[in-house]
Amino acid sequence: MIDMHTHMLFGVDDGSESLEESIKAIKEGFALGFNTFVLTPHYIDETTYTSNVKANQKKHTILKKALNEKQIDVNIILANEVMFNENITSLLDDKEIKQLTNTNYLIMEIPRVSIINNFKNVIDNLMFENIIPIIVHPERCYYFNSNIDIIKELVNKGTIIQVNTGSIAGKHGKTASKVAKYLLKNNLVHLLATDSHHSYNALELKKAYKFVRRIGGNKLWETLFTKNPQLILDNQKPVLPNRKALKHEK
Ligand SMILES: [Fe+2]
Repeated sequence: MIDMHTHMLFGVDDGSESLEESIKAIKEGFALGFNTFVLTPHYIDETTYTSNVKANQKKHTILKKALNEKQIDVNIILANEVMFNENITSLLDDKEIKQLTNTNYLIMEIPRVSIINNFKNVIDNLMFENIIPIIVHPERCYYFNSNIDIIKELVNKGTIIQVNTGSIAGKHGKTASKVAKYLLKNNLVHLLATDSHHSYNALELKKAYKFVRRIGGNKLWETLFTKNPQLILDNQKPVLPNRKALKHEK
């Protein structure tokens, strides 16, 4: 399995605080079945979470070497989780932020509580420049869960939607859980990810697995955690799974 969203790059945001913590968490993830971890440090303008690409690459190299030395056989791939920002293209040009390595995809979050202006225009402009946003945990954001149709529009435009396993399991409250389940039931999700910050939560993952298996069988789980992430890492287009069809596939 591939975890497309983790905060395992140490010492850059509210995720892992040390190299040791990152190694421990990655080992936990490996034990749960993950062999690839996308490192998505936050980039939030006007906060302390603004480590640039060069600094992140240095830490990525250190972590990779340490995992190698300990013979932990995993891939770690560098990206960012960029807070919605109207200047994304200049931030990319200035190497302040990084798209998912070797792809056209950009992992993006939006503020949890506010309605954001100009959102659709910014998305359209990015798509026009062949930068494909992966919108993470929309189920946690008021802007989306007060108007699910925005997510349908985004999916129709070709934007990628990622839901957190923790949201399904109830970590972020009832609304996030309800919206996450609604999106999954209505075939509006391309990816699942854990968004792990300090460690892996086996119970949350198990709860998410139970729900996904119930609505779409093992094939849906496999599509959201293995097949689609791999397509994205290969810079291809993921599929929008039809859960009912997958449920009956052997
Ligand atoms: Fe995150």
